Amino acid sequence: MSTHEREPIGVIGTGYVGLVTAAGFAELGNEVYCIDIDAAKIQGLNEGRIPIWEPGLTELVERHRGRLHFSTDLTEALEHARLLFVAVGTPPTYSGDADLSAVHAVVAAMPPSDRHALVMKSTVPCGTGDHIKRAFREQGKEGFRYVSCPEFLKEGSAVKDFLSPDRVVIGDDGDWAGEAVAELYSPLDAPVVRTDIKSAEMVKLASNAFLATKISFINEIANVCEETGADVVEVARGMGLDDRIGPKFLQAGIGFGGSCFPKDVSALKQLAGNSGYHFQLLNAVIEVNELQKRRVISKLEKHLGTLVGKEIGLLGLAFKPNTDDMREASSLVLSARLQAAGAKVRAYDPVAEEEARRLLSGVDLVASAEAAVDGADAVVLVTEWPEFRELDLAAVAESMRGSLLIDGRNFLDPEKLRAAGFAYEGIGRPNGGDGPPGNAEEGDGGGRTPQR
Ligand SMILES: NC(=O)c1ccc[n+]([C@@H]2O[C@H](COP(=O)([O-])OP(=O)(O)OC[C@H]3O[C@@H](n4cnc5c(N)ncnc54)[C@H](O)[C@@H]3O)[C@@H](O)[C@H]2O)c1
Repeated sequence: MSTHEREPIGVIGTGYVGLVTAAGFAELGNEVYCIDIDAAKIQGLNEGRIPIWEPGLTELVERHRGRLHFSTDLTEALEHARLLFVAVGTPPTYSGDADLSAVHAVVAAMPPSDRHALVMKSTVPCGTGDHIKRAFREQGKEGFRYVSCPEFLKEGSAVKDFLSPDRVVIGDDGDWAGEAVAELYSPLDAPVVRTDIKSAEMVKLASNAFLATKISFINEIANVCEETGADVVEVARGMGLDDRIGPKFLQAGIGFGGSCFPKDVSALKQLAGNSGYHFQLLNAVIEVNELQKRRVISKLEKHLGTLVGKEIGLLGLAFKPNTDDMREASSLVLSARLQAAGAKVRAYDPVAEEEARRLLSGVDLVASAEAAVDGADAVVLVTEWPEFRELDLAAVAESMRGSLLIDGRNFLDPEKLRAAGFAYEGIGRPNGGDGPPGNAEEGDGGGRTPQR
């Protein structure tokens, strides 16, 4: 399709999903009108500052600066675009339900129209589309169309995921808007699932809940491996070669985090509960994940005794590598638990330092891995940033006060660590552990840490 045939679109909310969606469609040749209520973010984008750390995004936005329009005002978007993609946040509330206030603010801001459609990219509970259509009717905007088009991109590979998605899911009412969204995505040549709105909404929630279940499952297997002497890395390798199982999301570790899995699993559990169904499996998935984040503490205590006054170095803080996102990261629970147990915590992350300053209190944030481990009684690898594989182990061992290294992602080579004089503990690995580090998924970013 040539560029001039591509229709202009609007994107409301320019966070991780909105900005990547906007830049991705600009790459496909669309003019994109991006709206956000955060005036500082919009000003920064107009001045060329990208608010998030996401590989390839800066270059993409820069390349298509001419097609990307950033504003806090909806007028231009409504004038030029029929399709308005909604990518505002839907964070968890105290009850565990999704907070839809930003979505409802967008709905309320729409004028009556027979020409426009909202295309929901934000992750919302099943039934939200019905509520929004009812709100449109009540507000005299029944001409407004609605499409559910959930987003599956993973932070850290979001640009790639936009440009070559596993699938595009479009739930609609069979009107012009569903067709128009399908047409927009057609250059990507991805499998397209056309369905009703509720099913599209549920595909997203069920997908994230399933992936989270896989992670909690392998974490429980890891815990049993610790009791029995099996090595979960070997177990996962053997399981993952079964193509009914697959190798992704079978990496045991210290629990999943991020802005999606925890909230989406909890939202699905609440959605079921609100409808009178007790989703037993998801309760266990959530509980296993919470306990998994805390197991590091008992591993530390096993080696160090009391943690009062002990210096613990954390390597990595982001919820996974290649992002600066720390929402619901395991590092948040871990650093709080360590401090509650009386330890002093020093931490380093290659890109999440600014986020960490906002979210962590009492943690000494330092500018290098070397500074984080210097004088530490124990070191915990929390996020598997590739640079941690390049550490000079002899120098690290030399600079530490103690010798304990807990590899919370089974990312490092136990043999090399032991040879360098470390007391090594992985997750679900035998104490005398041998076997290769990591597993078949190494390097593809495909799920060592939970992704969305
Ligand atoms: N981050 C991910 O990897 C990912 C992946 C798939 C789906 N999702 C879903 O996509 C949605 C957005 O997630 P995100 O991570 O991009 O969130 P985010 O917090 O990074 O961005 C949300 C943006 O929306 C803006 N906003 C809030 N209210 C607004 C309003 N009324 N009008 C205009 N802008 C408004 C905020 O200022 C912010 O810039 C969520 O529902 C999330 O669950 C996220």
